[in-house]
Amino acid sequence: MQTVRLNNGVEMPLLGFGVFQIPDAAECEQSVLEALRVGYRLIDTAAAYLNEEAVGRAIKKSGVPREELFITTKLWIQDAGFEPTKNAFEKSLRKLGQEYLDLYLIHQPFGDIYGSWRAMEDLYQAGRIKAIGVSNLLPDRLMDLIVHNQVVPAVNQIETHPFLQQVDTQQFLQQHGVQIESWGPFAQGRHDIFTNEVLLGIAAQHERTVSQVILRWLTQRGVVAIPKSVTPERIAENFQVFDFELSAADMTAIAALDTKASTVADFRDPAFVKWLGERKFEI
Ligand SMILES: NC(=O)c1ccc[n+]([C@@H]2O[C@H](COP(=O)([O-])OP(=O)(O)OC[C@H]3O[C@@H](n4cnc5c(N)ncnc54)[C@H](OP(=O)(O)O)[C@@H]3O)[C@@H](O)[C@H]2O)c1
Repeated sequence: MQTVRLNNGVEMPLLGFGVFQIPDAAECEQSVLEALRVGYRLIDTAAAYLNEEAVGRAIKKSGVPREELFITTKLWIQDAGFEPTKNAFEKSLRKLGQEYLDLYLIHQPFGDIYGSWRAMEDLYQAGRIKAIGVSNLLPDRLMDLIVHNQVVPAVNQIETHPFLQQVDTQQFLQQHGVQIESWGPFAQGRHDIFTNEVLLGIAAQHERTVSQVILRWLTQRGVVAIPKSVTPERIAENFQVFDFELSAADMTAIAALDTKASTVADFRDPAFVKWLGERKFEI
């Protein structure tokens, strides 16, 4: 597995497995087990996905040595703030059955994320987390966090796919030593992405599938990708992306698909911010 080196020297797999919207515990456990069997080593979950226990069980059953794994989970908004973050971290760790995390992310840029960040800095300094980062921070918010704290986030996990390519943001993150990680690499299946003519054409040329072209395109750009699937054939398909290369012409053709617009969420829309902030989970 190819890796990227984070700003603190930690190696992070370039391709991983996401488990958003797999609420069924048995299905989640089975999917993670299958992903680990196929060879994925990065697993991306979150307290708000309500499946950390299932992920933990799959990890235990898999028998994969802990040092080979890269486990990410995320702090939800209702636990923002210094003390709540410390408690939420312990809870996530317990549910996952782990002694440490590889990456802990602030899931959403709302609530007292400064209190959260200081708690995460403490946990990081104490060696309980290998790297700490954020998710869904727009460049201005990220800069504010960097300027007023000690530890620069190692990762920013943001929506990134052929219709929202984040080219400028990737450049900005690179300049500040923050690794870009894509969520929703397939735009969650929206906008007929799997039957897009341009992507189908490139896939045909390489005798690959559209999903493989997308994941190759992301990883070739140095973007960490964490596709989700509960389908064993797709889990395997999505892992086979390091044995072919997209040409400069392929990359240019895909670049033309960028709409620079989200398919899911507008983090500057007050109605969305309110809706998200009011979502409470039984974490
Ligand atoms: N930080 C955040 O705010 C945030 C937000 C969203 C997601 N994420 C993370 O990013 C991960 C990935 O994003 P996502 O789950 O939202 O969406 P996604 O990976 O873009 O898309 C998942 C969808 O694509 C389908 N799919 C997967 N592989 C396929 C293939 N080879 N051919 C055809 N269809 C395929 C899946 O179907 P089946 O499952 O039915 O096979 C599922 O419907 C999440 O699981 C989560 O870990 C983070």
